[in-house]
Amino acid sequence: ITPILTDSHGRTHNYLRISLTEKCNLRCTYCMPHDGIALTPRAHLMTADEIEAIAKIFVANGVDKIRLTGGEPLVRKDFTAILERLAKLPVKLSITTNALLTHRFIDDFKRFGLNAINVSLDSLNPEKFKFITRRDEYKQAFDNINQLLDESFDVKLNAVLMKDFNEDEIVDFVKFTKDRNINVRFIEFMPFDGNLWNKNKLVSQAEILNRVNDHFGVEALQPLPNEQNFTARNFRIKGYRGSFGIISSVTNPFCDSCNRIRLTADGKLKNCLFSNAETDLLKPFRAGENLETLIDKALNKKKAVRAGMTDFDQLTNPDLHNNNRSMIAIGG
Ligand code: GTP
Ligand code: 5AD
Ligand code: SF4
Repeated sequence: ITPILTDSHGRTHNYLRISLTEKCNLRCTYCMPHDGIALTPRAHLMTADEIEAIAKIFVANGVDKIRLTGGEPLVRKDFTAILERLAKLPVKLSITTNALLTHRFIDDFKRFGLNAINVSLDSLNPEKFKFITRRDEYKQAFDNINQLLDESFDVKLNAVLMKDFNEDEIVDFVKFTKDRNINVRFIEFMPFDGNLWNKNKLVSQAEILNRVNDHFGVEALQPLPNEQNFTARNFRIKGYRGSFGIISSVTNPFCDSCNRIRLTADGKLKNCLFSNAETDLLKPFRAGENLETLIDKALNKKKAVRAGMTDFDQLTNPDLHNNNRSMIAIGG
């Protein structure tokens, strides 16, 4: 096969993130604009059959890992049908979810071999959860995370950190890994359209590590080896069962080993999380055109680092990041 999933920087893309929907049952302020987004009409969203057929093209060209994202992927009515179709492909399946609905899908996850579940939870405090998500659903999320752990899923917990919001919970989150087989990841707050990002809200990797060191002591902190194509740099507190990591897309990007491509719910290929250059695959697919040439072209335009925003100042320039979509419509 021609290596259409290798870009001009020599990176091979074997990890496809598919957003299933732009809808969500939460309203996290850092993910969507306050007044919501204009939803794509249903006819322009990929159907379950189209998701399967398009995913197959990627798999034929080397993709062996697919993550389902959103919006909230589990609000999609035909979620099980999509999972069933993708489970037939030779890929490792995973999902990023807010966990509010996972209790309804435990059997489906098991039946279709979806074992890796990343859960977004930004606070361990019910009031703060309500503030950031604009919904009073902490208990359901928390209970469901415990259920996933009890059922032995491989769970990572994602917490986006923001100054004067949950920065003071870093130590609590690390303690959460003491007796649980879980990986908690602290995520640097990233700028996207409409999410009111500003650099004073950023809690950086360096600040996170300082807080951890201040509390636990440097000698207790054990760096873990980087995973292949990592987003998080991971650590363990000596003697703890779980681990924690930091995803530092803003202050310390990890683009050298990027293996990710993204498909939005409306069938647009994004070669980078931060790129607003999108390649429509759905319309050509419906017209019976060959997608491989389009994919190849899109991948070859991928920039070495963050869609060309190499340094911090570029990334934080609103003129650049406001041209991109909101996170809720990209899928993270
Ligand atoms: P694994 O597949 O388990 O490694 O998960 P992941 O970290 O790739 O995915 P997840 O959906 O849990 O995302 C966690 C955080 O990492 C989110 O804030 C994402 O936006 C961010 N993230 C995921 N993929 C990328 C990427 O390709 N580039 C950057 N800069 N950030 C990413
Ligand atoms: N910055 C960093 N991470 C974000 N996510 C959503 N919006 C942002 C942002 N602005 C995270 C979600 C989810 C993952 C897919 O992306 O919390 O866990
Ligand atoms: Fe890949 Fe773009 Fe993320 Fe960098 S910012 S890791 S190039 S998707």
